[in-house]
Amino acid sequence: MITKQLTTNDVRQAAEILRAGGLVGIPTETVYGLGSDGLNSEAVGHIFQAKGRPQDNPLILHIPEASWLERYCQEIPPCAWDLAERFWPGPMTMILRRKPLIPDVVTAGLDTVGMRCPAHPVCREIIRLADVPVAAPSGNTSGRPSPTTAGHMLEDMDGKIEAIVDGGPCSVGVESTIIDLTCTPPRLLRPGGITLEQLESVLGEVVVDQAVTRLMTAGEKPKAPGMKYRHYAPKAPVTVVTGEPAKSAAYIASHAAAEDGVICFDEFLPLFTRQSETRPVMDLGPAGDKEEQARHIFDALRQFDHTQVTAIWAQCPDDSGIGLAITNRLNKAAGFHIIQV
Ligand code: TXA
Ligand code: MG
Repeated sequence: MITKQLTTNDVRQAAEILRAGGLVGIPTETVYGLGSDGLNSEAVGHIFQAKGRPQDNPLILHIPEASWLERYCQEIPPCAWDLAERFWPGPMTMILRRKPLIPDVVTAGLDTVGMRCPAHPVCREIIRLADVPVAAPSGNTSGRPSPTTAGHMLEDMDGKIEAIVDGGPCSVGVESTIIDLTCTPPRLLRPGGITLEQLESVLGEVVVDQAVTRLMTAGEKPKAPGMKYRHYAPKAPVTVVTGEPAKSAAYIASHAAAEDGVICFDEFLPLFTRQSETRPVMDLGPAGDKEEQARHIFDALRQFDHTQVTAIWAQCPDDSGIGLAITNRLNKAAGFHIIQV
C-alpha cells in the first residue's frame, strides 16, 4: 500500500477514506493518532494490525462535540459535563459506561469506553466531515514513543495505512489525560495535557492510579490496560535522574560514559557537548518551561534510535503541573529505573 501524504487542504479526502473503512494518520494537539471509523469493526481491527497492538488494549473514541457523548455512553455523571464544559475541546479523555452499539473490538470487551473531543482544528474538521466517532490510538508502532510530527508517524506507518494528514507539530506533545469517571472518587489513569491540579479544581478529590507512578509487577492489572506495557522506549536502556536540575546534570556528567546519550534541559547542553564531541545530546527545553519540555520529550526519545548509543541518561522535571505527564513518560521509557539526587 502507498501511504498518501495529505495536507490540511485535503480534509475532505481524509474524511472519505475514514468513511470507506480506511486508516488515516490525523494530527491532534497531543500526538498524531491512527484513526478509523469507530463503528466499523473491520476497520478498527486494521488499527491493531498496523500498530502491532495487543487486542486487550482498548481504543478511545474521538468526537467533535460533547453532545455526542449521549450517543455512545450511558449513566453519564454530572461531573462529566462539568469537565467537558471546562476542558473540551482539549487534551482530556473521560472513561464512561458505554452503550452496546460500540463494537467490542474498540473497548476490548470492557463495559466502559474512553471519549475525547480533540482541540486541533484540522482533526475536528476531519471528524465532523466523516460524521462518525473516530477510534484513534497514538500513531506509533506499539511500544515506541508516540509521534508528535507527521514525519515521526511515517517512520512507523509508511506503507501500512491509506493516508496521513500533516497538521504540523503537536502543540501539547504528550497524550491526553485519562480520567475514569466510573468510580468514586474519580481516578487519574494517565497524566497528560490537562493537569491533576486542573482536574481537582472541578472534581475535588482525584485518586492517582498506581500505574502512573510505579512499575506494575507481573500479574497486576492496571485500570488502563495500556499502562501495563513497556512503552515509549527507545532501543537503548534509559536511566532517569530526578532532583534539582543543577544536581541531576552534575550526576549525569560524572556517571555517563563519553558515548552515552543524554536528554537534558537547555541550560546544560554546553556542559554535555563540551564533555564529549561524539555524544548525542537532546535538549528538552528550559528547566523552567515544562510546556516546552512536553513538546520535545517524544522526539528526544525517538532520535536516539537513529544513533548507536547503548545507554541514555535523562534529566527530569518535578511532577507538578504537566511535569507529572513528562515524568510518567520518562519513567515508563526507563522501566522506572530512576535515580533521585
Ligand atoms: O492524546 C491521546 O489520547 C491520543 C490522541 C491520538 O488522541 N490517543 C492515545 O490513544 O493516546 P492510545 O490508544 O495510545 O492510549 C489510550 C490509553 C491506553 O492506555 C488504553 O489502555 C486506555 O487509554 N484506555 C482506552 N479505553 C479505556 C477504558 N475503557 N478503560 C481504561 N483505559 C482505557
Ligand atoms: Mg499510545
